[in-house]
Amino acid sequence: MISRRDFIKYAGIGGIAALSHISPLGFTERVFSEDVREFKLNASITSVNVGTGKSFSAWAYNGQLPGPEIRVKEGDTLRAVLKNYLPEGTTVHWHGLPVPNKMDGVPGITQSIVQPGQSFIYEFKATLPGTYIYHTHASYQLDRGLYGALIIEPKREERSYDREYTLMLEGWATMDGGAPEASKMGRINPGGMMGMGMMRRQPTAGEPLHEPLYDAYGINGKVFGASVPFRVTKGDRVRLRIINASSATTFTLRIAGHSLRITHTDGRPIIPFEVDSLRIGVTERYDVELHANNPGRWHIYNLRDGSPASGWPLGTILYEGIESRNYNDDNLKGLRLNDYNLLEGAHESYLKPVGKVEKVFVMTLSGGMMASPYWTINGKVYPYTDNIDIRDGERIRFEYFNRSMMHHPMHLHGHFFEVVGSGRRTGGRIKKDTLIIPAHMGRGAVEFIADNPGVWFHHCHNLYHMEAGMANLVRIR
Ligand code: C2O
Ligand code: CU
Repeated sequence: MISRRDFIKYAGIGGIAALSHISPLGFTERVFSEDVREFKLNASITSVNVGTGKSFSAWAYNGQLPGPEIRVKEGDTLRAVLKNYLPEGTTVHWHGLPVPNKMDGVPGITQSIVQPGQSFIYEFKATLPGTYIYHTHASYQLDRGLYGALIIEPKREERSYDREYTLMLEGWATMDGGAPEASKMGRINPGGMMGMGMMRRQPTAGEPLHEPLYDAYGINGKVFGASVPFRVTKGDRVRLRIINASSATTFTLRIAGHSLRITHTDGRPIIPFEVDSLRIGVTERYDVELHANNPGRWHIYNLRDGSPASGWPLGTILYEGIESRNYNDDNLKGLRLNDYNLLEGAHESYLKPVGKVEKVFVMTLSGGMMASPYWTINGKVYPYTDNIDIRDGERIRFEYFNRSMMHHPMHLHGHFFEVVGSGRRTGGRIKKDTLIIPAHMGRGAVEFIADNPGVWFHHCHNLYHMEAGMANLVRIR
């Protein structure tokens, strides 16, 4: 429900109240003054065809999949007017950005859900530059398509690039009519392996859903073959902002014929590190630099595990002047892959180092057994998981133990954390907001300063694990 105060705020903005009568399409952005940037996000049902020939019904912002890219400058005030044309309540969450708690978009925790036909205005200062993703935080809606890129450009850019592209990696269940409805058919995708599927008993009413069988993967709303190639010119320094916008798929991205120089993870700078392929979990972001020094027509692959290694094409990099329709051959042997422990954080003035921690919380992640559709933290299912109560300013460590057969991209709202184990050579740890905890007894630890008061969601970002219980609340006061 929109509160009275929000309604007054809404009605008080000249001309905006009339929005309720326009279609979900129309303008996306208005600039009010130099540093207030207003964006319109109209959530509605949209029929999409990602290039497989089969249309299915998606839920999307402004009739686009992915939603419009929101791009502002550090220090700007970002105002987003969400208008709900959907048949269910919805919200918007600004993933990774430490916004004030009541702007965080978690229904029932930081705000009331925005009911069909109603509006809500998000407004906050864009303080930390970087590559982010905004998305709905209501039930399974993320997997229906309610997401987009959020980019905060720094006041002063340290590197210059000839070109820049945003790549949102996505997976769709087109054969079964779109996620999450597709999960109800019982055909699932264990472990996120592409091209394989198995049948499972259909969930009974009230039971959490299993991730569906995703049969199509692509970039920026299109599968390979339907997408426009990313064009480069020989000699270009290209920045790619790579965002995993899927709900349950970890990608291993390979740009054939090229190495990638990672400059940022989850928006935070690192000491540049070169890889040949990039593992990226749900909602993780990597900014990479590609040096266009190998002319041709090249695949962008998602690598499949197993031997021989093989790639599933997601898109194309095309050099100017290349006429041939043939793709250049790639060598998939001996590729260097990213690993948190190999990365080192670069100096930045935005976040201070955590230093000596004062409290440690240990969390065992498990679930996913055939007999039970639930996923747990310390044996409990949200909302019955234990709250993590801490004081404003405390220095905290989370230690994770994964006793399940799947990995879990764990995400904390409202804060960046340092990744324990990274930064071995310089002592500069990397900072992130989402961390993959590997399967089969995998471990991970993060540290952060609890300097953003409020009640924050903390959860596995595999949507089907989150909705099946792998979440808890971090209460800072
Ligand atoms: Cu990407 Cu709880 O959020
Ligand atoms: Cu998980």
